[in-house]
Amino acid sequence: MVERVPTFVEGFDRALGGGIPEGSVVLVCGTPGTMKTSLVFSVLYHNVQEKGRKALFVTFEQGYEDLKASMEELGMGDLDGMELYILDLGRIRREHREQDNQKDWLEALQEYITKRVHDHDFDLLAIDALSGLYSLSEMENPRRDLFHFFAFLRDLGPTCFLISEIPFHSRRLVAYEEDFLSDGVFLLQHAEVGDSDVQLRIRCVKLRRAKHAQNYFALVWGPKRFMVTSIIARTGDRRRRRAEPASW
Ligand SMILES: Nc1ncnc2c1ncn2[C@@H]1O[C@H](COP(=O)(O)OP(=O)(O)OP(=O)(O)O)[C@@H](O)[C@H]1O
Ligand SMILES: [Mg+2]
Repeated sequence: MVERVPTFVEGFDRALGGGIPEGSVVLVCGTPGTMKTSLVFSVLYHNVQEKGRKALFVTFEQGYEDLKASMEELGMGDLDGMELYILDLGRIRREHREQDNQKDWLEALQEYITKRVHDHDFDLLAIDALSGLYSLSEMENPRRDLFHFFAFLRDLGPTCFLISEIPFHSRRLVAYEEDFLSDGVFLLQHAEVGDSDVQLRIRCVKLRRAKHAQNYFALVWGPKRFMVTSIIARTGDRRRRRAEPASW
């Protein structure tokens, strides 16, 4: 039986059949502001705090201080003494601006991650976000390059979370075929409820080696962790859901 990595999202682990199979590469997709960063960070945070695991969070857009402050505001404090490391790649690139065009940053990142994972024995790795990764190098053949990147992550060993940003009104979850390449896909979505309310929802679209629920759950933060609750669909909701593209 494969070990499971709990998400520590109350109610969601049960829906995943006990958690995420260890070593999986999981894509976390969502439109802007759907708490992608907070969700993934909280999975790492609670696994470090409660399971004694080690984790590396690679951030492109949000700087180290800003990320730390946002997570502390949500109640995820005491980061300094924890085995949860943040790699601020945006800052490193800014500091080496003169090499920005010459260096193959994607290769450099892979080398760095490999070294850190071997040195520190990381169990969990997160990359926020894939678009930042794509800005690192001119991918000649994105599908082939991504196939190799996913293979690289799987060979590496840790359970990986890749955040993928969906532009508003996009009908696609991803830019290329990342959803097929990954072992799991979680979708975060703001759903309109009635005329004026918006509810944050999560759905496990796929998770290999797991008997998981397919339905949407409402996702709420607090206190100190996420939890899901079931959605009692209203007629208006059902009508709206049917009108959405098949992949949603
Ligand atoms: N306690 C809370 N409950 C609900 N929502 C919150 C709470 N604290 C912050 N938020 C909202 O969460 C969002 C930011 O979360 P986060 O940065 O994790 O989202 P994101 O999907 O990663 O955003 P981006 O698209 O900018 O990367 C903001 O819209 C903020 O208003
Ligand atoms: Mg984010």
